[in-house]
Amino acid sequence: MTADLFESAVDVLPSREAMAEGALLLRGFARPVEVGVLAALHAIEAEAPFRRMFTPGGHQMSVAMTNCGEMGWVTDRRGYRYDGADPETAKPWPAMPALFRELAERAAREAGFSGFAPDACLINRYEPGARMSLHQDRDEKDFSSPIVSVSLGLPAIFLFGGMKRTDKPQRYRLEHGDVVVWGGLSRLFFHGVAPLADGEHAVVGRKRINLTFRRAR
Ligand code: SIN
Ligand code: FE2
Repeated sequence: MTADLFESAVDVLPSREAMAEGALLLRGFARPVEVGVLAALHAIEAEAPFRRMFTPGGHQMSVAMTNCGEMGWVTDRRGYRYDGADPETAKPWPAMPALFRELAERAAREAGFSGFAPDACLINRYEPGARMSLHQDRDEKDFSSPIVSVSLGLPAIFLFGGMKRTDKPQRYRLEHGDVVVWGGLSRLFFHGVAPLADGEHAVVGRKRINLTFRRAR
């Protein structure tokens, strides 16, 4: 096989990296739908703008957030929770676009979780320097559904640990179009994002967008 042929074969091969039991990194999985996803995102943020929320401890998060879907994840002085309405406008969150739901459902199925029906999509916007400290996603009613996380824009270092906060996290560089799915035995693994390095992404600009799909109820 010539080098050229080999390279084009590599381009079309889905690249899958096992991260832990129940956790899979699907490289470039969202690339085929990136234009539609970004267009839908613009419509969502026009209705429910990004905002930097406060933790129950009173710290303002460096990551700006919004949501789409029946339920949205919010935090303020009262705690972390899901809410069917945007606290800024008291209106329901924008509907989850079918394209988002289908992308999440297909990614989950690739990782062995068929029938994933997300009712919440948290949208995180990282500007240079923004980070997310190690945490577990545990505000959902039950943990039988996986989490599907879609990365767009600037690359970030995703930290993926274990069941204990002190478990040393592995580091994965997530790039535009990469999708991570974790469920089953790793559903409650600690994870976070290292401070975003500055840069300019050709399509998304000077930021990283992350869509996190979950079943909240
Ligand atoms: C999150 O844990 O909600 C965000 C993860 C990420 O931005 O990759
Ligand atoms: Fe999380």
